Amino acid sequence: MEEGKDQTAATVNKPNQSRVLPPRLVQLLFLFLVLCFSICLFIIYMIRKTEVTTTLASSLPVLQPCVQEQQKRSLDHWIKPPTSLLHSMSDEELFWRASFVPQLKNYPFTRVPKIAFMFLTKGPLPLASLWERFFKGHEGLYSVYIHSLPSYEAKFSPGSVFYGRQIPSQVAQWGRMSMCDAERRLLANALLDISNEYFVLVSESCIPLYNFTLTYQYITNSKHSFMGAFDDPGPVGRGRYNHNMLPEVNISQWRKGSQWFEVNRNLASVIISDTTYYPKFEAFCRPACYVDEHYFPTLLTIQAPDLIANRSLTLVDWSRGGPHPATFGRSDITVEFMKKLHIQNCVYNGEPSSICYLFARKFSPGTLEPLSLVAHKFLGY
Ligand SMILES: *[C@@H]1O[C@H](CO)[C@@H](O)[C@H](O)[C@H]1NC(C)=O
Ligand SMILES: *[C@@H]1O[C@H](CO)[C@@H](O)[C@H](O)[C@H]1NC(C)=O
Ligand SMILES: *[C@@H]1O[C@H](CO)[C@@H](O)[C@H](O)[C@H]1NC(C)=O
Repeated sequence: MEEGKDQTAATVNKPNQSRVLPPRLVQLLFLFLVLCFSICLFIIYMIRKTEVTTTLASSLPVLQPCVQEQQKRSLDHWIKPPTSLLHSMSDEELFWRASFVPQLKNYPFTRVPKIAFMFLTKGPLPLASLWERFFKGHEGLYSVYIHSLPSYEAKFSPGSVFYGRQIPSQVAQWGRMSMCDAERRLLANALLDISNEYFVLVSESCIPLYNFTLTYQYITNSKHSFMGAFDDPGPVGRGRYNHNMLPEVNISQWRKGSQWFEVNRNLASVIISDTTYYPKFEAFCRPACYVDEHYFPTLLTIQAPDLIANRSLTLVDWSRGGPHPATFGRSDITVEFMKKLHIQNCVYNGEPSSICYLFARKFSPGTLEPLSLVAHKFLGY
């Protein structure tokens, strides 16, 4: 560049050649233009080259933290439970997300299986303090989920096991598919925590019948999940079957059972990922069919008959007759009554057992006070 300038300056400064200037000048100007053009090309080439170098140089620091981040992200990132139960996923998105199942059966970390207690409620939990006593001292072995009416605002204190445990909910009506949807929603939310292995559905009127230690061992040592399922030949059993459910469900596969179940992770996945039987039940199990008494028992009887005990873990009293089980009130809570809660007979892991029910319902809010006084002596918590 400097050289070019000097040449031009030298030419212009020669006074003796003033006469031949026009043709020489044209020549020189031409040379000058060529020179300028070359210089421009050179500059553009240099800029391009510098740009590439700069891009590479500046992109390296960007790539580097990314790689480091990936390396730092340990397995913990994938196995820790969601920090908040609130999310904006639709049911469709939630069920899809929750249906991920690991293909390797061995966990490459110490996994302490937890029991997810799923409370299906309308609103408040009047017996919450009994459950708090039941859970106390067993942190890390359980988790709590609450599905209530969307309009209900829970007011649990930050120290409560129920604090911040409400999942995004929708209105659920007894006997309708919306009730099964609420149960599937509870299962799906609980499945998002990889350490939940057992899933128990309870209601606001349920109480535990034994201490946590016994409850945990009974559930985790069982060879079967506890889904009530029986073939009732009467009008409220087979009488509710609809032939439009063929060919997916025939009458000999039709089952009835209590909605208060306990299932393991495997069966919870079967329930939330079912797209074969769900549409049939939704379309042909009309309100008078009480779909929540038939869908899960029938589904699991077809899909996993050998994995279910065909009985529920929740004791209900049908002795008073009518379409609903008895609700126990304050005056029912006597020593005699408490003793009777543990008189049981059934089969557990193929052997006769005197412990069959771990939970009981329905207890009215008025029973809280008398139960609190006797729970330690008769129920062990
Ligand atoms: C739990 O209850 C069982 C049976 O009632 C009893 O044998 C056991 O000692 C209790 N465990 C604890 C930790 O209280
Ligand atoms: C119902 O379906 C099962 C399985 O496909 C079959 O074994 C059984 O014979 C069927 N029962 C009736 C009554 O059709
Ligand atoms: C539950 O019932 C199914 C038939 O519906 C049967 O195959 C299974 O063995 C039963 N489970 C137990 C533990 O008896």
